[in-house]
Amino acid sequence: MNVIISGASKGIGSEVAKLAASQGHNVLAIARNKENLEQLSNTNKRIVSFVADLVSVDLTVQLKEWVESVGKIDLLVNNAGQLINKPFMETSKEEFRTQFDVNVLSAINLCQAAVPWMSGNSHIVNITSMGGFQGSSKYSGLSAYSSSKGALSVLTECLAEEFRKKGISVNALALGAVQTEMLEEAFPGFQAPVSATEMAAYILNFGLTAHRYYNGIILPVTIGNP
Ligand SMILES: NC(=O)c1ccc[n+]([C@@H]2O[C@H](COP(=O)([O-])OP(=O)(O)OC[C@H]3O[C@@H](n4cnc5c(N)ncnc54)[C@H](OP(=O)(O)O)[C@@H]3O)[C@@H](O)[C@H]2O)c1
Repeated sequence: MNVIISGASKGIGSEVAKLAASQGHNVLAIARNKENLEQLSNTNKRIVSFVADLVSVDLTVQLKEWVESVGKIDLLVNNAGQLINKPFMETSKEEFRTQFDVNVLSAINLCQAAVPWMSGNSHIVNITSMGGFQGSSKYSGLSAYSSSKGALSVLTECLAEEFRKKGISVNALALGAVQTEMLEEAFPGFQAPVSATEMAAYILNFGLTAHRYYNGIILPVTIGNP
């Protein structure tokens, strides 16, 4: 299979890329950190890395080269994300814009570039958060992050309908806490029940198999919340 994973320079995305390559899949790993991506590519020749800010770079042309070398795209995981933990009244418009740019627009960018290379039996998985899951527990300080993840969840449902005829399934995984740099920066000292490696294994398996059973679902991946 041919897999694109955004936000692959660290955390969950990096683990998804390594695991997918170790299982024999071709991987296109995208993020901004060149050094981390180079290290990732060095772990397995099946991983091709692409350094890009998904908010500002149009990837249409760049994807073409990789897809032509592997044939088609089977799985796109929109995993790139960012979290601002700040009270709503102190969060600037610019910070709100940045959250929506990274957490929503980057997925839009990648979907628009990838979908022309996707056909029947392929899968787009958007990584959202329990904070953006309707009816879940909400936390002070996460209004920008959670509302952007909520937007990505609804986008998932819209795209599932829009691409149904093409045979592309679009689903979202609403993750609970996972032990990564993002979590440690936002909630110093908090111990998540799941490691990045464990969550990566779940995401990859879901990405490679669940499109046969689901289209347009937002699946909570947590034990404790809601
Ligand atoms: N960890 C948790 O508890 C948790 C819970 C719920 C949901 N999630 C979601 O899971 C996903 C992965 O989170 P994580 O914990 O692994 O976070 P992380 O360790 O902070 O990794 C985030 C990744 O996103 C990339 N990224 C950020 N902005 C980008 C941009 N403009 N263009 C391209 N890449 C960009 C980062 O790479 P560069 O900086 O190199 O660009 C990095 O590879 C995120 O969407 C997050 O919201 C995480």
